[in-house]
Amino acid sequence: MRGSAMLFARTLRPALFALEPETAHRLVVGLIRAFPWFLPACRSVAGPRVPPDPALAVRVGSLLFPCPLGISAGLDKNGEIAGVLSRLGTGFVEVGSVCRDPNAGHPRPRLFRLPKDRSLLVHYGNPSRGAAAVARRLAAQRFRAPVGVSLVPGSGSTADDTEGAVAELAGAARLLAQFADYFVLNTSCPNVSDVGWEGGKAPVATLRAWVEAVSRESLGRPLFLKVPPVAEPRAIEAILRMAEEFPALLGFAFNLPRQRPAGLRTPAAAIEGLPGALAGPPTAPVFEAALAAWRARTKGTRVHLFGGGGVVSAADAYRRIRLGASLVPVCTALVFQGPGLPAALNRDLSGLLRRDGFKSVSEAVGVDVDGSLSPGVARA
Ligand SMILES: Cc1cc2nc3c(=O)[nH]c(=O)nc-3n(C[C@H](O)[C@H](O)[C@H](O)COP(=O)(O)O)c2cc1C
Repeated sequence: MRGSAMLFARTLRPALFALEPETAHRLVVGLIRAFPWFLPACRSVAGPRVPPDPALAVRVGSLLFPCPLGISAGLDKNGEIAGVLSRLGTGFVEVGSVCRDPNAGHPRPRLFRLPKDRSLLVHYGNPSRGAAAVARRLAAQRFRAPVGVSLVPGSGSTADDTEGAVAELAGAARLLAQFADYFVLNTSCPNVSDVGWEGGKAPVATLRAWVEAVSRESLGRPLFLKVPPVAEPRAIEAILRMAEEFPALLGFAFNLPRQRPAGLRTPAAAIEGLPGALAGPPTAPVFEAALAAWRARTKGTRVHLFGGGGVVSAADAYRRIRLGASLVPVCTALVFQGPGLPAALNRDLSGLLRRDGFKSVSEAVGVDVDGSLSPGVARA
């Protein structure tokens, strides 16, 4: 374990894990806001700042990411600490998910730790201070890496209220467009009502309406859709046909599956009756299968894939890149391994690329899937 990870595991983590999970999360955000120099200082104590390896830079449309490992939505829901997070050697920071209007989300408790599985059960239900508040906060910060803003309709407007959802998303995009390098539309939050993904189907008409509305309001900002980790060819192909209509729609990310994976180390009795979707390493096979299935259909197109979900090491991240990911977001692993993680993974990734003779990340994207007739999940 590296210096900063060891320090985190021995000191901060036990103190934070003694608190109720959401209380700990709020405390961390509050402390970072109060002492914005603290995390970047820890990073420099842990080791000298290494200039980013140019081989790690990733271009996605008009966006240039300094490195592929970044932070996904959920950690900075209200855009309070994205500036600090962007100074930790991260390739990008995703803020949100943000609703247009303030939204309470589900009642607490709505976040649970499963330490034996290094996982979390997430049942937030999209709490948000609202797009105007997030815009004010983003306006007051500076960033060292691209900042994406994840948008979601409030919990009231879902499957049966497409018009309400469209109006909310458009309103949020209008308020935030100046402050976002790109937008991600969260089309599949696993703990609010489904917009039509059930049964492996793709709610193409709803997605089209959402993308249309946000594209009109987003000042041409690149757009990504966060979809469930579906691997059904017909669903993927229908979404990709729809994507061709929108030049600003550059790619896809994957949200947590609604079903919990089998084979957890945590005894079933400990989580029986607890709500929420599971996030963490046990979900990795589902994300890898989805990523490979999407790559098999997007190779050679302008579509890029975010390959997160259960990533805890540079080897995991490298495997995702080889399965088709241009960018690799992490979320749960930061809670268990601390804020030095993205920088450490980016550094170790350089070594893995060099070991295998790749001169850049983009050379490695998809090599384990491209050319195979039926994409499997190959090991790097
Ligand atoms: C505490 C928590 C909150 C999350 N909140 C959001 C959210 O608001 N919007 C979203 O699109 N994804 C959210 N996610 C999903 C993550 O962005 C990520 O896609 C997912 O957790 C898989 O990555 P991981 O295994 O690295 O956590 C959340 C995840 C966690 C653990």
